[in-house]
Amino acid sequence: MNKSYKRYLVTSALPYANGPIHLGHLAGVYVPSDIYTRYQRLKGKKIIHVCGSDEHGVPITLKARNEGVSPQEIVDRYHEINKKAFEDFGIAFDIYSRTSNKVHYETASEFFRKLYDEGKFIEKTTEQYYDKEAGSFLADRYITGTCPHCSNQDAYGDQCEQCGTSLSPTELINPTSRLSGSEPELRETRHWYLPLDKYEPWLKEWILEEHQEWKPNVYGQCKSWIDQGLNPRAVSRDLNWGVPVPVEGADGKVLYVWFDAPIGYISATRELTDDWEKYWKDEDTRMIHFIGKDNIVFHCIIFPTMLKAEGSYILPDNVPANEFLNLENDKISTSRNWAVWLHEYLEDFPGKQDVLRYVLCANAPEAKDNDFTWKDFQNRNNNELVAILGNFINRAIVLTHKYYDGKVPPVTGMEDYDRQVIGEIGAIRASVEKSLENFRFREAVKLAMDLARLGNKYLADTEPWKVIKKDPDRVSTILNISLQISASLSILLEPFLPFSMEKLRRFLNFEKVDWSLIGEADLLETGQMIGKPELLFEKIEDTAIEQQLEKLQNSRKSVGKDTEVAAQKPEVTFDEFSKMDIRTATIVEADKVPKTKKLIKMLVDTGIDQRTIVSGIAEYYDPDTLPGRKVCVLVNLAPRKIKGIESQGMILLSENSDGQLYFVEPGEEAHNGAEVN
Ligand code: MF3
Ligand code: ZN
Repeated sequence: MNKSYKRYLVTSALPYANGPIHLGHLAGVYVPSDIYTRYQRLKGKKIIHVCGSDEHGVPITLKARNEGVSPQEIVDRYHEINKKAFEDFGIAFDIYSRTSNKVHYETASEFFRKLYDEGKFIEKTTEQYYDKEAGSFLADRYITGTCPHCSNQDAYGDQCEQCGTSLSPTELINPTSRLSGSEPELRETRHWYLPLDKYEPWLKEWILEEHQEWKPNVYGQCKSWIDQGLNPRAVSRDLNWGVPVPVEGADGKVLYVWFDAPIGYISATRELTDDWEKYWKDEDTRMIHFIGKDNIVFHCIIFPTMLKAEGSYILPDNVPANEFLNLENDKISTSRNWAVWLHEYLEDFPGKQDVLRYVLCANAPEAKDNDFTWKDFQNRNNNELVAILGNFINRAIVLTHKYYDGKVPPVTGMEDYDRQVIGEIGAIRASVEKSLENFRFREAVKLAMDLARLGNKYLADTEPWKVIKKDPDRVSTILNISLQISASLSILLEPFLPFSMEKLRRFLNFEKVDWSLIGEADLLETGQMIGKPELLFEKIEDTAIEQQLEKLQNSRKSVGKDTEVAAQKPEVTFDEFSKMDIRTATIVEADKVPKTKKLIKMLVDTGIDQRTIVSGIAEYYDPDTLPGRKVCVLVNLAPRKIKGIESQGMILLSENSDGQLYFVEPGEEAHNGAEVN
């Protein structure tokens, strides 16, 4: 941190090109990385900011399947949409590349090949699920099944989203292929693994000892991963979409998306500049990865291990990951269409990029998850941008036109108070710097706004509109200082509000944008003309907010149509169906299973008997409310042990559009033991 670096390399997580950018992406990654880059640039630092589309991986191929188009069509579509949206929003990437281009294929292949040639991988043959009907292996999210930990029936091959456990496909109970809906079989396949376990001592030292300054959420996640012990991690997959594994006899195998995607940062730099090696291989470069919290392990453990194993690369100096942003008190979700999409915001609020940038920064989920609400958006615009910043600038400019025909008036004499105010500009600048250097963006923007507050207070205390009659010379000084504060503001707030500050500099006829000038008392020359007053920010009316809330609610309602509906399973005969014995039943007792988050153990009267059933519904139902409720039970399902309790049957559940599970309920008059068919 105290080292002086020759250059900076900022990377922002490459978003998957399987959907548009939403507010969560922006608040978590791109607004902070952009502010940071603009700030360092204003300080005269040599800095580049790289990003691009992540175009491989199962999220892309599944989306393509769902729409019945090729993966290439999906990535082409979203690459363009996202590239343009970022540009229009003022995210100043030096390059927005993509991982399907040639440079990337070469870079990723070379990287793999070097590790391969030097024997840095281990090769293992394991049994993995294979879908005979579809004729392909089922990597990660191509397979679903019941989670062995919480009995969620829709757990993915790599993770259960209900209990958060990371899984491998063979741990799933009742695995099902998402390609054909059939039950897959195990087949042998060979893959390359990065032996993370061998790097454990090094990771301990590098992160746990040498990077204790990383944000607590980042450091904490790394520590818990390392403490749990690291295992070799497969870096190839049996898929036909991705960078082919560049060795003999690896037909049908591609690099794991989390192996190739971070190399995308290198490829993008390579595409941008012939000097790319300086940025990646010279210890005088400071590399910083901006990411969301779900990317921490990949950027702090796996990618650094890859770089270390390769041997010629530098490592990130910091990885400022943010937590998640919620929207109107609910998790942002693409599949439930609960999101505000950037390209739509830009259409609905033309010219208001800075308002969103401001709100997302002021309310960024830095230390914990946070909530975006349209009401807060409106309040921050009206009460802060308009009432504090816009108001100050407007008064300074209007009064200058009124009393001095729009010419910057001279300083006729300084009072102590004037000197004190000018001194405070420097102090504010220093505190903003400190916050930005430590990746505390919420704090930084609040401190920067203090300069506008200071300006307002200065005008309110000195009251030029009253003093003008008795002492016009004094007013000349007051307005000069107010305009100098405005000029300082136009630099100080530039990283946060680039569009408005450019506009402000146009009003002021002020062109110098250099961080070190903030606080100088002679940024504007006496006698220089300033432009006619125009509003920097406008009030946002209730109707605009109501429209957004309505739009959000309506799009959630229509999710039934757009949501990912599982493919129909293969045909069964009536005989096969009638083997399932489903009965109406009543819950007699219900208790939470100790030390689990989701499980409830129930005694259920099936009409045939009273039996124990365990179900992962504690998130949706309070056990105390369950006795007496009528449910449908598959009674002849083979008993299964869940957390040591034998569950003798399965209660039928369905999912509503909120993703909540609820009982499939028989009618009130159904008696226990009545057959459902
Ligand atoms: N596409 C990933 C995501 O959205 C992020 C990839 S970051 C990279 O979660 F480092 F791999 F590029
Ligand atoms: Zn689970």
